[in-house]
Amino acid sequence: MTTFATRPAENLSDAPASHIRGWDSIELWVGNARATAGFLMSAFGFRSTGYAGPETGRRDSVSHVLEQGGIRLVVTGGLSADSPITQHVAHHGDGVHDLAWLVDDAAAAYELAIARGARSVREPWTETDEHGTLSLATVATYGETQHTFVDRSGYHGPSLAPGYSDADVLPNPVGPEVGLTLVDHVVGNVEQGRLADWVDFYEQVMGFRQLTHFDDDQISTEFSALMSTVVWDGHDIVMPINEPADGLKKSQIQEYIEAYDGPGVQHIAMATDDIVATVQALRDRGVRFMTVPATYYTDAKQRLADVELPWAELERLNILVDRDERGYLLQIFTETVMDRPTVFFEIIQRHGATGFGEGNFKALFEAIERDQARRGNL
Ligand code: FE2
Repeated sequence: MTTFATRPAENLSDAPASHIRGWDSIELWVGNARATAGFLMSAFGFRSTGYAGPETGRRDSVSHVLEQGGIRLVVTGGLSADSPITQHVAHHGDGVHDLAWLVDDAAAAYELAIARGARSVREPWTETDEHGTLSLATVATYGETQHTFVDRSGYHGPSLAPGYSDADVLPNPVGPEVGLTLVDHVVGNVEQGRLADWVDFYEQVMGFRQLTHFDDDQISTEFSALMSTVVWDGHDIVMPINEPADGLKKSQIQEYIEAYDGPGVQHIAMATDDIVATVQALRDRGVRFMTVPATYYTDAKQRLADVELPWAELERLNILVDRDERGYLLQIFTETVMDRPTVFFEIIQRHGATGFGEGNFKALFEAIERDQARRGNL
């Protein structure tokens, strides 16, 4: 692992990062928003807090707002064959379309991004109803993924935005409390040879900094290899970016790029304060996770011999453990949640550690490769 000294981009105060206040929401574009929202509620314990669609005056698409702790997902589907959402889904399958950030000034963040080389998706605009005015602007990132800057300081409505209603929300399914608290990090996959360009984009255009870099000799198994650089805004927005590297067989990142037909979001990591309870609840609700062999725990107990951990529970639930110089972390990865082998979720509980489970990469990737082989892609 190569850890860079925290290296502020030049003129950081003149970059969009200086306006970012945290995650606003993550929007998924899917083929059937009602069904995906229902799945995320029943399996992951999200609750429905808002809805936009024909009943609220929107003709071309529907969106369900789902919340849990400080995490907000927006699940959107198109209502006609020529909808950009429908076409996006036909091309990529269900996926993550917008990584939206809360900012203190959407137009200022946008203008700085454009001046520093970002591609515009939508110039600053406002949306107004009786609860106030929401200010937004959108720029492009890898693939067809985008970042919307959202300034909520002038808007105090009961739901996400003008045009959304909290009257048409979906009923909550019964199930054990899951306890997810916030977005820990969001990982993107980009094409081979493009990692440096996208790291440059986040550093030079957005004013992010590099947190960590892993080379392919650090992240490889017998068959599959990748390189990864983690960029962050210095506070809450942490975004690892992966590119495939040559291995004996097809990299899992390359499998994603081919299945999604381009770069995109690979996984969303969500934090919990009690991973044993969270993973038990998720399993009871029907979530399926990557598994590691029992031999993983023989090795893990040695790596973390001095830490008091509920090993039997961790092994029973297949929760992974890792440590760095600052502490340790517990994590687990779901199977891909889309039909195509693209997007999955991670559940993570940090005890001081600021890494991403590098010590688990090999065990995890070997687990992914077992699934890849079952799909005939290895
Ligand atoms: Fe992760």
